[in-house]
Amino acid sequence: MFTILITGANRGLGVEFVRQHAADGWEVLATSRQPEKSDALKQLASQHPKVVLHRLDVTDAESVKGLADKLKGKPIDVLLHSAGIYPREGQHIGEIDYDGWHKAMETNLFGVLRVTEALLENVAASPRKQIAAISTSLSSLRGVQGGSVAQAGTSYQYRSSKTALNMALSILAKGLEPRGIRVGLLDPGWVKTDMGGAHAPLSPRESIAGMRRVLAGNPMEISGKFLGHDGMPRPW
Ligand SMILES: NC(=O)c1ccc[n+]([C@@H]2O[C@H](COP(=O)([O-])OP(=O)(O)OC[C@H]3O[C@@H](n4cnc5c(N)ncnc54)[C@H](OP(=O)(O)O)[C@@H]3O)[C@@H](O)[C@H]2O)c1
Repeated sequence: MFTILITGANRGLGVEFVRQHAADGWEVLATSRQPEKSDALKQLASQHPKVVLHRLDVTDAESVKGLADKLKGKPIDVLLHSAGIYPREGQHIGEIDYDGWHKAMETNLFGVLRVTEALLENVAASPRKQIAAISTSLSSLRGVQGGSVAQAGTSYQYRSSKTALNMALSILAKGLEPRGIRVGLLDPGWVKTDMGGAHAPLSPRESIAGMRRVLAGNPMEISGKFLGHDGMPRPW
């Protein structure tokens, strides 16, 4: 059976990734800034002995190194980056919140790369050798060009951090090809979580089930691609 490490595993999409992998008997390394504060995660760990909780703040280099030291030599088949933030303040031109923008880049872009660098040898040592990050259709340059001003003329921080993530992981996918490590980007759709809000059409269960089907495909065929939870390519 495979091992998956999930960031941001205490709520939202992350905890649903934990739930579904645990139900299928995977070993799950569920990481979170404060795992002890998530009742959902603690319950999953008590029900499934192969769910192990670890502390990880993806923006904190010491925290990332601490986890990498703890997991040294442990193969990780799938490294799944779900942790992310969506700054809500100062999203319009004339009132941009640069602190929020820094935080979005720290979490959504640097956090993914920092954790990937730290755990790369764990992924390389596994049979499956797969890395995936949750991006968003809002990252699409084509989407901005084709969208209305109301849809497209906002959310500089979040969207640019995810566009940069798409580029960074595309570079990574090429760079890791010779080592047989496969890297993909996923769009979960608009999902009911704290981030997605109550009006989102998709439940976490549906979105994660779809993304798991995509991840279960041939890693060579999905590497370097940006795919939706429905398996369809998303525009860059
Ligand atoms: N929901 C949607 O409709 C939607 C659509 C497109 C893309 N996405 C993407 O999907 C991913 C998950 O989103 P979600 O809807 O589950 O969001 P969410 O409900 O707001 O959960 C965000 C998760 O990220 C964690 N996180 C934030 N900063 C972190 C850090 N520095 N270190 C470690 N963990 C951190 C949070 O932990 P704390 O509890 O400690 O804050 C939480 O577990 C994100 O990357 C998001 O951009 C979501």
